Order: sequence, then structure tokens, then C-alpha cells
Amino acid sequence: PREPKIAPSLLSADFARLAEETQRVADADWLHFDVMDAHFVPNLTFGLPVMQAVQAVSPVPLDCHLMIENPDRWAPGYAEAGARNVTVHAEACTDPRALARDIRAAGALAGLAIKPGTPLETYLDVLRDFDTLLVMSVEPGFGGQSFITDVLDKVRTARRLVDAGELTLVVEIDGGINADTIEQAAEAGVDMFVAGSAVYGADDPGKAIAALRQQAAA
Ligand code: DX5
Ligand code: ZN
Repeated sequence: PREPKIAPSLLSADFARLAEETQRVADADWLHFDVMDAHFVPNLTFGLPVMQAVQAVSPVPLDCHLMIENPDRWAPGYAEAGARNVTVHAEACTDPRALARDIRAAGALAGLAIKPGTPLETYLDVLRDFDTLLVMSVEPGFGGQSFITDVLDKVRTARRLVDAGELTLVVEIDGGINADTIEQAAEAGVDMFVAGSAVYGADDPGKAIAALRQQAAA
């Protein structure tokens, strides 16, 4: 059986206490870092200088999710800065395969994200050059939204291709993951679960991570 991995999203943390917030999720597998540019999505968060500052104190490797236009220009910088994984949106890339090569050459895993309405089929060939597939289960832009169950069909398809040896990918899901939704996502074949409000909204984020992991493994 797969071992479920949890990536808390710093988007739901207290931005005035970022260093402490990384310590509170020290048991996580990856720390999810949502970069938004107010163009690709209607929200603005943080960029490379904040990523570097967070990474310098984080006990957990960074999983950078770039919800930005022109990722070809910006993504390799996050890899050079030491991110474990750098994910770009398929809808925003001009040449995803070339960008995956650049991200990998700079030392990170390369991830491709697809919005809820974006079909997986269009990108099956491109995904040969990626290490991670991020299936968005909410419209990107904000934490605390409701899980869109329909996207699990894309997870099932990706799982089938990975298990058949046709693709080598970490299957990651992002948006609305909590105690009520994680089991169906796990059943569909997710490896890595991003959870923002479900982890940082808990009194004890460490306990919330352990509980989610256990639920996903059941
Ligand atoms: C949304 C972000 C998510 C967000 C998830 O655009 O990509 O990573 O932090 O938050 P929750 O888990 O609260 O849906
Ligand atoms: Zn995200």
C-alpha cells in the first residue's frame, strides 16, 4: 500500500509568524508554498524573497505551487533557491516540457498543476517530463473552499497510468482536503495531500497531520 504524504499549505498560516508556523508542521512531508501573482489568480501572496526566508528556517522541504503568469520566467529561480518541488500551471505555460527540463536542471522536482476544469488527457504526453502532477480540487486562489469531487476521475486516470508503469509521477491533490474528504481522495489514488485550513486551522497542527495521514492510510 502507498504511504500517504501530507503537505500543509502555508497559505493558512499566520503570516506574521512564518518561522514558528514552519516549526508547528515539522512532521509534514513537504511544506506547500502558494505563490500567487494577482493575474493568474485573483489573489496575491508571496514570492521568491519570502520563499528563501522561509526555506532557511523550515525543517520541511518546500513544495512551491506557482499560480502565476509566465512561469517560464520565474519557476527555475525557485528551484535554484532550493525548493524540493516546483509546480507550474499547465494553463499558464508556453512550453511545459522545456520548463520541466529547466526546473530539473536547477535541482528540483518538476510539477504540473491542472485546474478543476482542465482535462488531463491534453497533458499525458507532456507529463513524461514531470515528477509531480498537482490535481486542483478547488479553483486556485484561496484557502478554505469546498472540495470538488469530480476531479477524482483525473486522479484515478493518473493512478492507473502510474501503476501501469506508463508514467512516473507523484499524484498530488490540492484544495478542500480535510477529515471529510481525504478518504475518497486516498481511495482514488492520491500520494501527496495538500491541506491548508485543515492543518493550520487546528489547535494542534502536528496532531492534525497525523490524523489525516492515518485516515488516508485506512
Ligand atoms: C488554493 C491553494 C491551496 C490552498 C488550500 O489556491 O493552492 O494550496 O492553500 O487550502 P485548503 O486546504 O484550505 O483548501
Ligand atoms: Zn496550492
